[in-house]
Amino acid sequence: MTLTYGKYGGRFVPETLIPALDELETGWREAQADPSFAADLDHLGRTYAGRPTPLTRTSRFATAKRRALHLKREDLLHTGAHKLNNALGQAVLAQRLGKRRIVAETGAGQHGVATATVCAKFGLECVVYMGSEDMRRQRPNVERMHLLGAQVRPVEFGTRTLKEATSEAIRDWITNVETTHYLIGSAVGPHPYPEIVHELQAVIGREAREQFVAAEGRLPEVVVACVGGGSNAIGIFSAFIDDAEVRLLGVEAAGAASLGTGRAAVLHGARSSVLADEDGQILDAHSISAGLDYPGVGPEHASLRDSGRAQYVHATDDEALAAFRDLTRLEGIIPALEPAHALARARELDDEYVLVCLSGRGDKDLAEVLART
Ligand SMILES: Cc1ncc(COP(=O)(O)O)c(C=O)c1O
Repeated sequence: MTLTYGKYGGRFVPETLIPALDELETGWREAQADPSFAADLDHLGRTYAGRPTPLTRTSRFATAKRRALHLKREDLLHTGAHKLNNALGQAVLAQRLGKRRIVAETGAGQHGVATATVCAKFGLECVVYMGSEDMRRQRPNVERMHLLGAQVRPVEFGTRTLKEATSEAIRDWITNVETTHYLIGSAVGPHPYPEIVHELQAVIGREAREQFVAAEGRLPEVVVACVGGGSNAIGIFSAFIDDAEVRLLGVEAAGAASLGTGRAAVLHGARSSVLADEDGQILDAHSISAGLDYPGVGPEHASLRDSGRAQYVHATDDEALAAFRDLTRLEGIIPALEPAHALARARELDDEYVLVCLSGRGDKDLAEVLART
């Protein structure tokens, strides 16, 4: 087993999936070598998705001491979260591979909506697996997926959240691998998925770096992002990994801190840092935000943690809710509950120059937040 991120990554999948992963890797390398792939994505980003997204300097949310806390506004991307960057790229890739059926998993529903959106745009069949607990708490996104023509299949076992939805999506893929592309929604899964998602989300970091330098004449001291599977975080971190003076801070949900309290184990096709017992049995996660409520994380983050290049901390449900309310009232921006975790830690920092990835908007979370107030 060749691992791809130090002792993490790899492919821990049934034999039947290896040819599909090989085909995907070949298709991905060819796409990367073909300038028309990048040009197509750039064009779609500008004319369909709303790239570049702006950078907003907060004025009231940051404490008086801090001069520059900037938000990278992925909440303003079409469909309301960073997930579209990845869904668009993988949909273009799937078509290059001749696949007309897409299967996906979703937690917060943002990846499901992004996938349903690109399938509508390109005329692809779309099946999205979603835990029934997540369908309850992210109702508006379920309705959006239906409107977009996707089939949303409820998953009723276990915690009825993202972990089980991912298992079901993988089962579907194994059964229909000839016709189907598995459009995974985060920087997780077997090789080459974490690399593909990293590259497709790297646009966040490229833009943010340029915008921050234009605004402040320097790099941020620290870049902060929430971490579920880790795609928005790796997207924004990627542009700063070589800048040793820029700290990278990932924020997990306290009840789903795969990097904070996890151990090396295999989940959903890759080895990473996972909430698991001594025998490698996966433990249940909990978070108010469906998008962070997952016991695993992308292997690249486990490697960045071990090398010390990035630090990972956590925020509780209550801290995220407080940051959600404050950003809403003080800046006129309603964030998703996922990036509210990043905001909760970012606002406590002593640094003057802070960049936060505001990965999505909070419309989907209103019922959940109102129920808690
Ligand atoms: C707005 C938003 N941010 C963050 C996440 C967490 O995912 P990731 O860690 O892959 O960015 C989600 C997941 O659904 C989300 O909807």
